Amino acid sequence: MPEIGHHGLATGVREIDADTEALSFLMSRIFDPLVECRRGEGNCDHCQCTRIDAVLRYVRRSFARQEDLMASAAYPGETAHRVDHAALVEQLKAMQAARVCADHDRILVREAVNRWLAAHHGGYDRPLANWTVTRRILSPGS
Ligand SMILES: [Fe+2]
Repeated sequence: MPEIGHHGLATGVREIDADTEALSFLMSRIFDPLVECRRGEGNCDHCQCTRIDAVLRYVRRSFARQEDLMASAAYPGETAHRVDHAALVEQLKAMQAARVCADHDRILVREAVNRWLAAHHGGYDRPLANWTVTRRILSPGS
């Protein structure tokens, strides 16, 4: 699967696009071949992968921001959107439970996140952005 850059995933609403851009940046840094695993040099016990942990910490924060927005704006698609956020969290947690190493299995982890991000963008973030703009809750651009 080709690398997903944030440029193709813009909604035009800064508050939403900033989180997608940050996740794309984080993914590129975490999986940069020159960035070594913190548990390198044979000390890894293959549990609680730190790279997956970093992605989980970030997405939980960004999901919380979007979910606060949806709740405060009474967004009608909130429940389904939250379920899709939770699906990525559960997928990453399942990878950790299965002792997936994002160092050795980096393609697997990257593709899972990129695939989720591409589907989530079109199915959830873009409709949320459109709704917030048409209801004048958020402004496009800036
Ligand atoms: Fe979302």
